[in-house]
Amino acid sequence: MEKLEIKKKYLIKIKELNKHNLHYYQESKPLISDGEYDKLKNDIIELEKKYSYLRANLSPSSIVGFRPSKSFSKAKHRERMLSLSNAFNKDDLDNFEKKIFNYLNIKKKTILEYSVEPKIDGISASLTYKNGNLISGLSRGDGTEGELITENLKTINDIPKIIKSENFPNDIDIRGEVFIENKDFEKIKTNFANPRNAASGTLRQKNSDETKKIPLRFIAYSFGYCKNIKISKQSELLISLKKWGFKTSKFNKVISGIPDLIKNHKEFENKRFEIDYDVDGLVYKLNDIELQKRLGFVTNAPRWAVAHKFSAKSSISKILNIEIQVGRTGALTPVAKIKPVNIGGVVVSNATLHNEDEINRKDIRIGDTVEIERAGDVIPHVISVDLKKRKKGSRKFIFPKICPSCKSKVIKEYNFQTKKYDAVKRCPTEGYECEKIAIEKIKHFISKDALNIDGFGKKVVEKFWDLKLIRLPQDLFKLDYNKIEKLEGWGKLSVSNLKHAINKSTKLTLDKLIFSLGIRHIGEKNAKLISQHIGNFDNLTNISSEYDFNSFLNTDGIGETQIKSLEKFFSNTTNLNVIKELKNYIGIIESDTKFSGKFKDKTFMFTGKLNGMSRAEAKSIIEKNSGKILSTISNKLDHLIIGEKPTNKKVNLAKELNINIISQKEWKKMLD
Ligand code: IVH
Repeated sequence: MEKLEIKKKYLIKIKELNKHNLHYYQESKPLISDGEYDKLKNDIIELEKKYSYLRANLSPSSIVGFRPSKSFSKAKHRERMLSLSNAFNKDDLDNFEKKIFNYLNIKKKTILEYSVEPKIDGISASLTYKNGNLISGLSRGDGTEGELITENLKTINDIPKIIKSENFPNDIDIRGEVFIENKDFEKIKTNFANPRNAASGTLRQKNSDETKKIPLRFIAYSFGYCKNIKISKQSELLISLKKWGFKTSKFNKVISGIPDLIKNHKEFENKRFEIDYDVDGLVYKLNDIELQKRLGFVTNAPRWAVAHKFSAKSSISKILNIEIQVGRTGALTPVAKIKPVNIGGVVVSNATLHNEDEINRKDIRIGDTVEIERAGDVIPHVISVDLKKRKKGSRKFIFPKICPSCKSKVIKEYNFQTKKYDAVKRCPTEGYECEKIAIEKIKHFISKDALNIDGFGKKVVEKFWDLKLIRLPQDLFKLDYNKIEKLEGWGKLSVSNLKHAINKSTKLTLDKLIFSLGIRHIGEKNAKLISQHIGNFDNLTNISSEYDFNSFLNTDGIGETQIKSLEKFFSNTTNLNVIKELKNYIGIIESDTKFSGKFKDKTFMFTGKLNGMSRAEAKSIIEKNSGKILSTISNKLDHLIIGEKPTNKKVNLAKELNINIISQKEWKKMLD
């Protein structure tokens, strides 16, 4: 891009940001979400980092907040009210400490001690006390000059108006956060976008009687100007603040070293939703006030403190396209291809739209601006559509009536239990006639819980499919290895490994084989029941549409849904041929050996990461030795096997129930 063009783009973004600052800080009514705002701000900072010639007076890297509102009189802060720089991960924290080490010229491995405090997402205020009396109160404003909102601040119960403690300094500015609890926000939320804006708007009401109506809270965390104060640690200050009559956070802590800071951050991130006000991160302040003084400030933030933010759960993006994916069981899943966005450190470019009903309910269209959520391990999904941003002429998304892969007419199944039609549309193909279903079936066939072919991932299946090397499961056993060896990324060694892994996979129990076939509604448990009923591979190959499937009804656990699915599966000639063909390659390990192994009648469960083997492998070792895996801790559990970083909850519960807790090593000994 041309220099001029970059500058133009940059200035447009600055203008946009300043417009939003105005709505946000002065009118307490933002037009955009926090995510959008942060993105805009970040874009600008990134541009500045990349192109050193960019710098505007109103750049977010040089201003704090925004000019105070004109409707209050202003006053200068005796000490500037600063902002904090953000850290999102370990690298950022390492960088933060590196700068401290360099600045103070101390050893890189020095363990630093921090006061750790929740970063309440409210608005900060500075309270001036003289001889124990609250004289005035200021908002942060632009950091240098704030609004005089004394009367409004005085309506807050948590703020002491007179302090009689002997050691309370006779001239001091106390700083802290004004916020509103979520339960109180619920009552007034129609007027404000979020609790922080509600606090800001309420605090800056012209009439303090209006402020009084809303229960604002105040938590103190620092001081600005102070004539003579003899405090050497931030943690001591927090204790003193409490003694003087201020509310302080009960979550304040002292922690040393980055590893423990990160551990604490993780723990807090999970419990923050239990707190009745918004906390958007943890603030780490170097505990030693002498060191704080030595370190001082960069433009608008201290060198001695940092805000370790929690990962944002959602972000704004645009739907570029809606694609329909076909799954192994024929389910058609709409997936939004979105403009890539960073959500809590992960770049997201796909979001599931679940099904047709969901698209209709939210009226999701191609081209829409949407809020995407990504929480934990859940697949990213669309929370809402910003209708204001919808372009004229946009069209409703029409869900396809035919399978995008094989063009069969799609169906909605009737569920006899719920007496409703499923929300999911399906391609009705049962065998391998639909290309997409066939690929997914093969992926299932080789997967960890099925044949478990090492080094044969989903991507390899797709590649081999494209090269016409495979069409059906049995093709895996007649691969053209000469051809594979010549492919990009393959060679003698990888081909020999693949051969070995495939050979190894040809010996398995009958239930594993049945599970591998990928019959709908037949998971691992049902496959076991069916294999016991059928008995051996010969019997399996003899099953056809003539079979008396109702005989399964006597098997506890197999119901009508499973029977219908089996009937459908075995009425398809391709499926029958696949089973017959597989007989040429697969040797069934007879199941009677299964019932007399070392772990007969014993139950096991794992927690934590295992050394040198996957969970799937460990599970299969236990099952080969006639043991059982349980998925919850109960009195039925005999042994809990602990790997690296086990879940404490599970371990504690096992202790309570007197369950035998063993290490991976001890478990191996049991086997020998
Ligand atoms: S210390 C020089 N401590 O976060 C240090 N700030 O981005 C500046 N905040 O304006 C502030 N909890 O509104 C500090 N325990 C805490 C805080 C906290 C929330 C807010 C405050 C500040 C902003 C900085």
